[in-house]
Amino acid sequence: MGSTIGQLLVIIFIPIWLATAQNDDFVYLRALKENWENTPPSWDDSSDPCSGWDGIRCTNGRVTSITLASMGLIGSLPGDIGQLSELEILDLSYNKGLVGPLTSAIGNLKKLTNLILVDCGFSGPLPNTLGDLENLVYMSLNSNGFTGPIPPSIGNIRKLYWLDLADNDLTGSIPVSNGRTTPGLDMLTNALHFHFGGNRLEGDIPARLFTSNMSLIHLLFENNRLTGPIPSSLGLVKSLEVVRLDRNLLTGNVPPNINNLTGVFEMFLSNNQLTGPVPNLTGLNVLNYLDLSNNTFARSDVPSWFSTLQSLTTLHMYNTNIVGELPAALFSIPQLQQVDLSYNRVNGTLDLGSTHSDQLQSVNLQNNQISDFSQRRQYSNSIQLTLVGNPICLESGVTDRFCSPPTTNNSLYSTPPNNCVPTTCGSGLVSSPNCRCAYPYTGNLFFRAPSFSDLGNSTVYQSLHNEMITSFRRSQLPVDSVSLKNPTKNLDNYLVINVEVFPFGEERFNRTGIIGLGFSLSNQTFKPPREYGTYFFIGENYDFLLGASGTGHKSSNTGVIVGAAVGGCVLVVLLVLAGMYAFRQKGRAERANHESSPFALWDATNGSGAVPQLKGAKSFSFEELSKYTNNFSETNNIGAGGYGMVYRGSLPNGQLIAIKRATQGSTQGGLEFKTEIELLSRVHHKNLVSLVGFCFDQGEQMLVYEYIVNGTVKDSLSGRSGIRLDWMRRLRIALGAAKGLQYLHDLADPPIIHRDVKTNNILLDERLVAKVADFGLSKSLGDANRTHVTTQVKGTMGYMDPEYYMTQQLTEKSDVYSFGVVLLELITARNPIEKGKYIVREVKQAMDKSKELYNLQEVLDPTIGLSSQLKGLERFVDVALRCVEETGNQRPTMSDVVKEIENIMELAGLNPNAESASNSASYTDGSKGGYEHPYTNDSLFAYSGDHFPTKLDPK
Ligand SMILES: *[C@@H]1O[C@H](CO)[C@@H](O)[C@H](O)[C@H]1NC(C)=O
Ligand SMILES: *[C@@H]1O[C@H](CO)[C@@H](O)[C@H](O)[C@H]1NC(C)=O
Ligand SMILES: *[C@@H]1O[C@H](CO)[C@@H](O)[C@H](O)[C@H]1NC(C)=O
Ligand SMILES: *[C@@H]1O[C@H](CO)[C@@H](O)[C@H](O)[C@H]1NC(C)=O
Repeated sequence: MGSTIGQLLVIIFIPIWLATAQNDDFVYLRALKENWENTPPSWDDSSDPCSGWDGIRCTNGRVTSITLASMGLIGSLPGDIGQLSELEILDLSYNKGLVGPLTSAIGNLKKLTNLILVDCGFSGPLPNTLGDLENLVYMSLNSNGFTGPIPPSIGNIRKLYWLDLADNDLTGSIPVSNGRTTPGLDMLTNALHFHFGGNRLEGDIPARLFTSNMSLIHLLFENNRLTGPIPSSLGLVKSLEVVRLDRNLLTGNVPPNINNLTGVFEMFLSNNQLTGPVPNLTGLNVLNYLDLSNNTFARSDVPSWFSTLQSLTTLHMYNTNIVGELPAALFSIPQLQQVDLSYNRVNGTLDLGSTHSDQLQSVNLQNNQISDFSQRRQYSNSIQLTLVGNPICLESGVTDRFCSPPTTNNSLYSTPPNNCVPTTCGSGLVSSPNCRCAYPYTGNLFFRAPSFSDLGNSTVYQSLHNEMITSFRRSQLPVDSVSLKNPTKNLDNYLVINVEVFPFGEERFNRTGIIGLGFSLSNQTFKPPREYGTYFFIGENYDFLLGASGTGHKSSNTGVIVGAAVGGCVLVVLLVLAGMYAFRQKGRAERANHESSPFALWDATNGSGAVPQLKGAKSFSFEELSKYTNNFSETNNIGAGGYGMVYRGSLPNGQLIAIKRATQGSTQGGLEFKTEIELLSRVHHKNLVSLVGFCFDQGEQMLVYEYIVNGTVKDSLSGRSGIRLDWMRRLRIALGAAKGLQYLHDLADPPIIHRDVKTNNILLDERLVAKVADFGLSKSLGDANRTHVTTQVKGTMGYMDPEYYMTQQLTEKSDVYSFGVVLLELITARNPIEKGKYIVREVKQAMDKSKELYNLQEVLDPTIGLSSQLKGLERFVDVALRCVEETGNQRPTMSDVVKEIENIMELAGLNPNAESASNSASYTDGSKGGYEHPYTNDSLFAYSGDHFPTKLDPK
């Protein structure tokens, strides 16, 4: 014991020593602190910013990330910031008190990838040195008071993919390059987002701005003073999905080749001075939302595309000089919600058709020439129809409802309580959807181009709500619940929704929680459902933070306890687990009622907007699965677990499947189940068991997986399966499983932490290729508590990361720890804990590095092969022991582990790529395929899970 603590002290103190001795970053950080009021109290405490300053993250003792959203900072941004030369992320969003110019020293931050200053009080011109930020991918400077022109140098930031300068006071014209001398925004061929709305930009939109090399998906120039015609080069940018040019001073004809932009979902050209005929938009066949209102178009017949654009939800053509009769087919467009054709010259008889869209909510034809209405007798108010100012309403004595002026009906939606009765709370406290009083983090979400216009449809808010909760939880943020309220359209025609985020388990968030939430929203880590399009968030100051005193343990205590536990004191482990278990049971009792109404949130059968977004996974009915398993017969039952039974079955095409069927009473909420299948269906890798489908029918919840014939690695190691695993096979299995986990950590989007890596969860297929099973949340199917990730410890005794169960903070390194245990099990074939002995300790004790095979012959599995053939075993043991280091940051990443096992295989004379050669294209990131989100290709989001400071917070 004594020596273990001694080792630990060394481990704890080395990083601090390195940090303080190495560089001047802390001098400059202190200079920032001197400039700011309201820095977190932890900034006063510690001499080492890298270990404990809220919002600071370091790598190798250098500051790499400063994230301080919504901290109430007051002051300016001094030039010292430019000295933090390893800085990659700077997020100071939602600090209105940060004022003054943006220092030109910012350009020294050559490693900066994310510059996020949303809704601060900065002003003055944007420095030209912004163009020196050669690694920048994400720049959000929106909602400040910046003035002057857009620096042309920004065109030099070739990696930039997100450029948000909206809602400032920028003037001048949009800069484009000029031969070789002057850079310009046309050079940003990797950019997906130009958000420049709400400034005072002027001059023509340069034709040169647009080329066919561009990747732009969102072009948002609304509410500026741009003049001249829409350049026809716009039609070259085939990637466009949202075009907002409304509220400018644009003139001239709409260029005909705008009809080439076949991927555009939302187009706003309203409130300009466009002339010529109403444009031909027949080609825009995915168009959802169109607003051409208030232009000076020449008198045009009702366009033929009124009845061909089958994706339209919204057609706004107020005052556009349209003449003639409306085709009834317009109203049968399946998702049509709103039509505003007021102040035109629509005439004849209005015919809404016998089968108009059932989403149709309002039709405004005020001030037209309509003389009759086919459905006059049946008209029932289900649609808000406005015909006031038409001949049909001008006869005296007309009392039809559709002849009264339109009423504005604001949606009063707010997230309903979650099967509980809201509580009355003390001052400042708010009753959460789970009916507990807490101090929420609040703000407004602004959606710049939603694809829908019906604000009264609660299912769209539910999908946003669910996506948000899921995203926060995946980012390990301590969120209990989210409430969405008061959706309205503001004067910019943005959809504004008020958000309250409630803390989990506590009355208030701590600083880390607020910073994390702010970053999740300022960095667009949270992605809304597709129909919401692009957003920005304006967060409010969080006034409920506590001081630093008296909030918890010191990290060194934790370290010593962890060390003691790992050092061999299994008893401590057991006590801790017992404590955790008791805590979980208590929590379970408290929460038993929540989210118990799955079908209210998502009904798999009704095909509504909230159905899961699945890639490749099929929805099976109960009857189907029953047939495929011979009525879930005894003989097809191949296993059981806490959640229920596993059955084997076969599909009509002959494919074998394994079905996990939750027993009645251990099913989870519909929301969780949906989240889980969405997550699982996006994950595809040859070393991961893939989801074939699911069943959410007749109260059943089942997950359908591919059937893996050779069972678990555990079975093979124990001899139960009859497959002998020699050293070479074990190396291949280790490599395969490592690659599967690496994929989950590095390539899955969002990243997935397995949480229960063990030999029982690694399966072997017919070619003995390892496939990791039970990832995602599925292992905990049936545990009503499981959504609250950060506070419960999952996993299996013996494989569990000690740091994780002490701190309850889950990171990828917890899987690395478990994988280290798996590696040791692979060479010893012993259970992690056997007869009270812990495998990690046993191996360490038996080990003598000076001897052949590290003197481990005693503990090795005899069936592994002859000692003389165990090439690379020593290095294998080395990597295993690095994986089970006490603290996460001492452990390698899964990608390090993969590389090392590959090296070992080469050493042993095996080709690490041999078995995967036939499947070389197996890294398919599910998120990049059919899942149609406007942000689908936004590579930045790969950063989200990784870059958010997940450093252990000792408080
Ligand atoms: C784009 O539109 C123009 C004018 O309508 C047309 O001549 C041209 O062929 C189109 N280009 C492509 C690539 O579709
Ligand atoms: C509109 O454009 C389409 C091609 O996208 C063409 O087939 C159609 O004839 C055009 N309609 C009118 C009225 O010009
Ligand atoms: C059209 O312009 C008028 C006058 O500026 C304005 O009141 C109205 O709101 C505009 N309509 C739309 C739909 O933008
Ligand atoms: C509607 O207006 C058009 C164009 O002015 C005219 O040709 C047509 O006869 C009108 N239809 C009716 C039913 O008044």
